[in-house]
Amino acid sequence: MPELASMSRRRFARLFGLGAATFVARPNVSFAHQLLAENSFIASTSPVVRLSSNENPYGPSSMALKAMTDAFSLAWRYPDEHADVLIDTIAKLNGVSRDQIVLGDGSGEILKICASAFTGPMTNDNRAVELARPTRGPALTFVPGRGKMVVADPTFEAILNHARINRAEVVKVRLNSRYAHDLTRMLAAANEGLVYVCNPNNPTASITPKKELRDFITNAPKETMILVDEAYFHYADSADYESVIPMVKVHANLIVARTFSKIYGMAGLRCGYCIAQSETIKRMRPHQTWDSVNIMAVVAAIASLNDPDQVPNGRKLNGQTKQFVISELDKLGFQQIPSQANFMMIDVKRPVQPLISALSQRGVQVGRMFPALPSHLRVTIGKQSEMETFLTAFREVIRTA
Ligand SMILES: Cc1ncc(COP(=O)(O)O)c(C=O)c1O
Repeated sequence: MPELASMSRRRFARLFGLGAATFVARPNVSFAHQLLAENSFIASTSPVVRLSSNENPYGPSSMALKAMTDAFSLAWRYPDEHADVLIDTIAKLNGVSRDQIVLGDGSGEILKICASAFTGPMTNDNRAVELARPTRGPALTFVPGRGKMVVADPTFEAILNHARINRAEVVKVRLNSRYAHDLTRMLAAANEGLVYVCNPNNPTASITPKKELRDFITNAPKETMILVDEAYFHYADSADYESVIPMVKVHANLIVARTFSKIYGMAGLRCGYCIAQSETIKRMRPHQTWDSVNIMAVVAAIASLNDPDQVPNGRKLNGQTKQFVISELDKLGFQQIPSQANFMMIDVKRPVQPLISALSQRGVQVGRMFPALPSHLRVTIGKQSEMETFLTAFREVIRTA
């Protein structure tokens, strides 16, 4: 393996040299394609099959690769103008105005901004208990009741750490028997804090039905901020699912987060965004890092949104491979939580940790153990060949682990 790794490095260096020369003379898409081809060579000969991070194994749009190749010459400039184009594109697609959008260094940054803006200390609130007085500027204050973060259990946990840093109290509410968010109990717990709704939910790949979510947003008091994370929106095809972006128009307490990491295959580039009313966005801005999305990610995101094929292709390939895995698991007598995403949660009918370790020893990385579902295994839907490798390893480990 070390030999293979060093060979790959050499080939990469050669390619990069070639790419740099190509760029100086005439930027074109072939360099990006060569790099991608080289990468799949590395991936396909690598001993590890990574099905642990819900990445898109088919990668970015070819239009995004071309846009990045063309943007090499812009690396020395701040990305503002291109970020403006991306914001305009997102605004147009969603029928909102520019001032209703914040870009993030992945939607992870959006989650962090929300935790910071809506569960942490705030300024100039006369109901508040003073927390700290900086040497300049208004006092930072902590509003009792506001420092609360309500989430499902299990859900995507990145936002919890940000809320805890803000001294927020984190309240976890179990998913209901259909693996949907228990919105009635979440609302009862919320007060003035932030409610995080991940739909489709990670790690269960389940959805919260559209009517339940619509009613919840409609009825929640305006002091309760609601963040709906639609990272896996494009993979959901249930008639019971919908985006809540159209509801932003009438709900100032609603924020919807999206990412380019999943169907757009840009997890390594880091780009996400959110949509909310402009007054809500204004409250978020002070918590934002300036120019946090780099030029490569910005141009790739614009090109991805302009590529009519990226989403349908990604959905189709994911759907076909998911169906194949479901039918193979069925033959083995294993069920899964109905998946509306690019991963699935398999009921392994025994403690999952030994299986995760045994799969890892066979070079198949799967999701970690989620304490709320200790006999479920989270597996990303990779390419067909990767899923065949997974299934071979799975058949072995269920006999031995
Ligand atoms: C539900 C959910 N939200 C947000 C993210 C973060 O994505 P990004 O890569 O955009 O930071 C992930 C990543 O896996 C996720 O599963």
